[in-house]
Amino acid sequence: MASVTILDHPLLQHKLSILRDRHTGSKEFRELISEIAMFECYEATRDLPLVETTVETPICEAKTKVIAGRKLAFVPILRAGLGMVEGVLRMVPAAKVGHIGLYRDPKTLKPVEYYSKLPSDIEEREVIVLDPMLATGGSGSDAVTIIKRSHPKRIKFMCILAAPEGVRAFTAAHPDVPLYCAAVDQCLNDHGYIVPGLGDAGDRIFGTL
Ligand code: PRP
Ligand code: URA
Repeated sequence: MASVTILDHPLLQHKLSILRDRHTGSKEFRELISEIAMFECYEATRDLPLVETTVETPICEAKTKVIAGRKLAFVPILRAGLGMVEGVLRMVPAAKVGHIGLYRDPKTLKPVEYYSKLPSDIEEREVIVLDPMLATGGSGSDAVTIIKRSHPKRIKFMCILAAPEGVRAFTAAHPDVPLYCAAVDQCLNDHGYIVPGLGDAGDRIFGTL
C-alpha cells in the first residue's frame, strides 16, 4: 500500500498561500520553497534509525540517542527541485546531494532526461527525491525509476504541491516510495499545470517567467 502524507500544519499552509500568490516575487518565492522543504524534511526523516550513546552533561552522565550513521542523500530534480536543497540541508547538513535533470516536453507532457549524477555510495544511502511539483507525475516517477537502477536502501519523494492525477500515477508506478506533500490541489489544466497551483515553479524560482 502506498503511503501519502499531506502536511497540513498551519505554518505550512500559511507559507503555501503566499507561495501561490502571483504577486510574490522570486526572492520571497525562493525563501518560502526553502522553508517549506525544511518543514517537510523534518516529517520525512521522522523514522530515521537511532542508536544509544552516552554524554556527560554538566550534572552527570546521560544515556541519549543519536542518528545511526549519516547515510542520507537528497536528489533534486532539475531545475525546480534545486530550490528545496538549501532547506533540507539545513536539517541534515552532512547529507550528500545527487542531481537528476528532467524537463517536461510542453507538447507531449512527457519527461525528457538530460542529466544524472548520483553519489557513488548510493547503495548505502536512503534517498529523498525533491521536486516542488507533482503534476502528471511523469517526471517524479521517471526520476525514481532512474534512481532505483542504482539500488539505494530506500527512496522517499518530497513535493510541495501535487495534483490528484500525479498522486495516482506516482503511487501506481512506485507503491513502495512514500510521498510527502503540503497540499493536493483540484486537477490539471489542458497544459498539464496544477489548478489552482502556483504556476511554473522553476520559472518563479529562477525569475525566468
Ligand atoms: C516541472 C516540475 C516537475 C515537473 C512536474 O518541471 O518541477 O519536474 O514539471 O510535471 P509532471 O509531474 O507532469 O512531470 P519542468 O519540466 O517545468 O522543468 P523545470 O523545473 O526545468 O522548469
Ligand atoms: N510544473 C510546474 O512548474 N507547475 C505545474 O503546475 C505543473 C508542472
